[in-house]
Amino acid sequence: MSKSTLIAAAAFAAAFVCSPTAGAEDLTALRAEAKGIIMEFAGLLKTELKAGLREGGAARAIEVCNRKAPEIARQLEARHGWRVSRTSLQIRNRDNAPDAFERQAMERFSADLEMGADPDGMVVADVIETPQGRAFRFVKAIPVASLCLDCHGSTLDPDVAAKLDEFYPRDDAVGHQLLGLRGAFTLEKRL
Ligand code: HEC
Repeated sequence: MSKSTLIAAAAFAAAFVCSPTAGAEDLTALRAEAKGIIMEFAGLLKTELKAGLREGGAARAIEVCNRKAPEIARQLEARHGWRVSRTSLQIRNRDNAPDAFERQAMERFSADLEMGADPDGMVVADVIETPQGRAFRFVKAIPVASLCLDCHGSTLDPDVAAKLDEFYPRDDAVGHQLLGLRGAFTLEKRL
């Protein structure tokens, strides 16, 4: 079992201990549901991204990501009743800025990555108290794949750089390396 799995398991055990009204099955089910929604989200994003790249290359695909990524997230929220989003420690769209829980999770992922842990399956899950009541939070690491480097790497095509500048004048989501941490999927369900 990797260190991150152990950490996630520990966070999970703590969540269970602190949440006497939630049964173990509930948490297992919530975790599985979160993973399913993320698979759906990632699949839809990749389909749109690839279609955009085919149609007009990376510069065109930026417009697709700009319009479609938030749209897909809202559709999934309506369908599943969870809050669904992406975040990062180096954000492109300011709407995706992390809160304290997400920041802590991603800092843990970065530290684990530096220790050589496998980013696949890095997860932090917990039940937290919020002013609106209890909520299940699920944050899953997104590693950088080669497909991502056209728009998040260190050497950008001038057209891509210009388009990014047009849409995101304050863009911190460049300069990424293959298999580094691009960000995280972040989900929340009110309990
Ligand atoms: C064609 C350019 C392009 C490619 C290729 C691309 N992205 Fe992005 N990415 C964007 C744009 C544009 C946004 C901002 C979307 C928005 O406005 O919500 C973004 C935002 C994100 C975010 C949300 C956090 C933030 O910084 O705002 C994550 C996470 C992300 N991308 C991961 C990836 C991953 C992982 C890959 C590779 C599988 C990838 N991207 C490939 C253009 C791209």
